[in-house]
Amino acid sequence: MKKVQPCRLGVNIDHVATLRQVRGTTYPDVVEAARVCEAAGAAGITVHLREDRRHIQDRDVYALRRSIGTRLNLEMANNPDIVGVALDVKPHEVCLVPERRRELTTEGGLDVAGQARQLGRTIDRLKAAGICVSLFIAPDPRQIRAAVAVGAPYIELHTGTFCDARGAKARQELQRLIAGARLAHDLGLCVNAGHGINLDNVGAILRLPHLDTLNIGHSIICDAIFVGLRPAVRAMLAALRPYRGGTR
Ligand code: PXP
Repeated sequence: MKKVQPCRLGVNIDHVATLRQVRGTTYPDVVEAARVCEAAGAAGITVHLREDRRHIQDRDVYALRRSIGTRLNLEMANNPDIVGVALDVKPHEVCLVPERRRELTTEGGLDVAGQARQLGRTIDRLKAAGICVSLFIAPDPRQIRAAVAVGAPYIELHTGTFCDARGAKARQELQRLIAGARLAHDLGLCVNAGHGINLDNVGAILRLPHLDTLNIGHSIICDAIFVGLRPAVRAMLAALRPYRGGTR
């Protein structure tokens, strides 16, 4: 029988860089933020190197790779320049995401089924460089099967639609996430999840089976304004502690 595992927390620190970029200052320091998150118990640090470089900069990714002691998860679009950065930096993980210039944050999941050839080539290159690859997708059985077909070992289920929904729509979306996590696990994928998760909705998210890691950013950085970064990370870790669904 597989051992039951807790769910890990990856902290997305993009919005520490947002605060720095809006004023063009040198602070707050993302490396220091990563250090605090790790000391508080985060299992990894996530950053999104966007094409428009609105928050995280290339130099941040290099500095984080040199300094962090846990795992660096680089979120990125399948863009040749950024794939080049990833192959040079060699983060522990890359999560491929769709990206639209004018969006506020990542909207929707990847169309893996429709872009299988382009994604497959990038996944092969990243895997050959020793990087673990994850695909950010909606809990859609077609996309989950396509993730298996293109050779991704991990998926990250997009929880944003659930987190934004209310009432019957939220209940329906949660069932889709649960079924998606189950299918992905049955097909041999490792399952992460993220987007829009906060202390109010994380209890529902923990109904998903087989979760390896939740990647959470915006709400933790917002909570940190009031309580500090370390207590904000620890509060989320405390919320994850009762999880008994992991089976890695
Ligand atoms: N996972 C992915 C793939 C994302 O794009 C984001 C947002 O950058 C997150 C997780 C974190 O989402 P949030 O900031 O809403 O917690």
